[in-house]
Amino acid sequence: MKIIPKNRQAGSAGAPMAAKLVKSAGELKKVPVRLKLRFEDAAEYVPENLMDKFVIRGGNPLLGNIRVSGAKNAALPAMAAAILTEEPLILENIPDVRDIQTERNLLVSMGAEVELGYGRAHHRTTISCRDLANPEAAYELVKTMRASTLVLGPLVARMGRARVSLPGGCAIGARPIDLHIKGLEQLGATIRQEHGYIEASAERLRGGHIVFDKITVTGTEDLMMAAALADGETVMENCAREPEVVDLAVLLNKMGAKIEGAGTSTIRIKGVSRLGGARHRIIPDRIEAGTFVIAAALTGGDLSINNCEPRHLSALLEKLQECGVTVTTTRDSVRVKNGHRLKAADLSTEEYPGFPTDMQAQYMALATQAEGTSIITENIFENRFMHAQELLRMGANIKVEGSRAIVRGHTPLSGAAVQCSDLRASASLVIAALVAEGETILDRVYHIDRGYERIEEKLRGANGQIRRIGEILPRRAAQVPVGVA
Ligand code: EPU
Repeated sequence: MKIIPKNRQAGSAGAPMAAKLVKSAGELKKVPVRLKLRFEDAAEYVPENLMDKFVIRGGNPLLGNIRVSGAKNAALPAMAAAILTEEPLILENIPDVRDIQTERNLLVSMGAEVELGYGRAHHRTTISCRDLANPEAAYELVKTMRASTLVLGPLVARMGRARVSLPGGCAIGARPIDLHIKGLEQLGATIRQEHGYIEASAERLRGGHIVFDKITVTGTEDLMMAAALADGETVMENCAREPEVVDLAVLLNKMGAKIEGAGTSTIRIKGVSRLGGARHRIIPDRIEAGTFVIAAALTGGDLSINNCEPRHLSALLEKLQECGVTVTTTRDSVRVKNGHRLKAADLSTEEYPGFPTDMQAQYMALATQAEGTSIITENIFENRFMHAQELLRMGANIKVEGSRAIVRGHTPLSGAAVQCSDLRASASLVIAALVAEGETILDRVYHIDRGYERIEEKLRGANGQIRRIGEILPRRAAQVPVGVA
């Protein structure tokens, strides 16, 4: 990622407006203010890596060691949790990825002070939400990152009101937030929808009984944060059991919350009147780790994936063993050694502890090289097969029928010009390119930069032939939308 001088001011294009709450004649009024963001704070509006591509030459096995970063999907709710307290929150093992910068911009646009560490303090962020002048998540930010909706619950709980843009369509499916809204209503919030925004208010949230119609990860997290500051007890049923939900509960409890049952489908929260600051280390990224596990298995490598939590990868590791991959684990690493032929195995994505939808695309790349036919069923999102079209361009044999993809394996792949459509689809194409004959040019790698920290450097350090090239174009000339996932 490029380093932008700190002393440059934000360009007016795209710099968000904020609003101050001012008391006048006994009434709270909103007064608009233009935020003095540094140039780097506004970088999200025109990503500097928009034109970057990866050039990947296939054929090398992945060897040696690779280190896993902190989990993006745990770091995002943890940063939103800072809204719940006036005291500073110190978060460690924060991945250096674009979505984290987006979340920082979002918090800054509300009036928070967010320090992202550099040098020795790299991967640490300190967030202070002492003065939140503007409890709003603007469309410009929400449209680039759906996880921005995670601020909804914390804002209503702490500020008594929130204005959050509806996220709209997404590359992988419809992804509504109706369950977040229904849950907040259950906690006593009044919700209005106007001009593409959700406006939620409540003098004080009160405990309630929430039964999720469908398991939702960020929905569980959003409402857990809201209920932590509600009056009385909340019971939430049919909750997501993902490790990221558990990590958030651990953090909230360090802040003074009273949460039990995170990691099971029923979570009980005794509301408290205030939460304080805390220091917390984010769990390792199980999806990044899993991506490297598959890459090592596919390239016939011998790779140790370090600094991860193997118990969060159980469904993936079991599936790979079924495919004939040799996997050994220690407390915090996975070693993949694969000299054998891969065997096809069917797969269905499920909520945790099932096989993660976020690993489906990468598994499809592996299935193209396995002996036999694999049927991959996507049960979480309705449109998460965009990578199949690009894999076809590299020589794969895949037929998509609704929520199923039929992958006929053992087809040689050849390098081609291909395009990323979303974060995990991009990872699948990188993996496929590592075994393709010749050179693959991967376009729109800004999708991968949203959630993988310097993936090209990590893979190069493990014998992968991959480099980033940027087109020499003025940054501001590029005005195409950034993908959403
Ligand atoms: N859903 C609803 N209504 C809601 C919320 C969800 O119908 O109010 C549906 C969704 O449309 C989907 C299903 O429920 O069909 C599950 O969606 P979920 O809410 O669990 O997804 P999410 O919380 O928006 C998180 C991850 C995703 C990951 C999914 C599923 C974060 C920031 N994002 O999204 O990660 O795919 O859970 O595990 O935690 C990624 O990292 O690439 C990514 C997309």
